[in-house]
Amino acid sequence: MIIDTDTASDDAVALAMALNHPDVDVVAMTTVAGNCPLEDTTRNALYTAELCGSAVPVYAGADRPLLVKAREATWFHGMDGLGDQGYPPPSRSAEEEDGVSALINHIRGNPGSTLVTLGPLTNVALALAQAPDIVGLVGRCVVMGGTANKVGNVTPAAEFNLWFDPHAARMVFASGLPIEMVGWEICRFEAGLDAAEQVALRALDTPLAHFFLDCNSTAMEAAHRQSGTRRLELPDPTAMAVAIDKGRVVTRSSRHYVEVEAESPLTRGMSVVDSLNVTGNPVNVEVVNAIDNDLFKQMVFDAAGG
Ligand code: BDR
Ligand code: CA
Repeated sequence: MIIDTDTASDDAVALAMALNHPDVDVVAMTTVAGNCPLEDTTRNALYTAELCGSAVPVYAGADRPLLVKAREATWFHGMDGLGDQGYPPPSRSAEEEDGVSALINHIRGNPGSTLVTLGPLTNVALALAQAPDIVGLVGRCVVMGGTANKVGNVTPAAEFNLWFDPHAARMVFASGLPIEMVGWEICRFEAGLDAAEQVALRALDTPLAHFFLDCNSTAMEAAHRQSGTRRLELPDPTAMAVAIDKGRVVTRSSRHYVEVEAESPLTRGMSVVDSLNVTGNPVNVEVVNAIDNDLFKQMVFDAAGG
């Protein structure tokens, strides 16, 4: 597995799910600007790897979207992206190689691997532009992004990762990569950890259980202000659960033509899913429609050491 991430609070949980899973071999992590500036997402990825006892190489990639101005989500994840808990700096640094060339090299070196994207698609778009051959080398490309004709979380029409760099998202969705799309709607409502589940997670009393809850504290308050929920919603971990154990986690999916809007101010970053195939365009995405929420939550608990 290769993970591209704008590491903030929910990314961190997803990284731990992969790094701590006995059947998953994470060969590289690349970071991208998104939830916070690149320097912070890289530091957070290194810090999370360290908490998991992992020496996985981390490469810093794009520090801004392709064409639009960066507009981070520190209002949601905290100024440092990890809930402003005062975590210490990680003991190691990112590799010297830049994230885009690392993506290309690790995909070429691991044909058939699963690429999981947890942030804006800038690195992936740049890699595809520089090395179109990687399209045929990726076994699966699991994308946390978009909403499958549902409400957005950053505008009424768009989910953050696709909205942050809509031109990159548009390129990636049109690239021919074998995309499995896990939209923001998948993490909502019953998929969120309710109060009792949050207490049970805390009661595990492991360093990672505390980390999962503490680094998501500002995200939970922001989500409450936005939608009224008191659940802990974890978009990136839902995508990671799909990446790790699709056969058991995904209970319903369907294949469609999906295109990302890049220009319209009203619908920038919208993932337009042609559910009825009215365009007649060829299918390019497997859209995840539903997951086994209990199994997903068990995977989060397992990653925390429970
Ligand atoms: C996505 O945007 C980010 O804020 C999260 O980390 C997740 O990747 C959810 O819309
Ligand atoms: Ca993310």
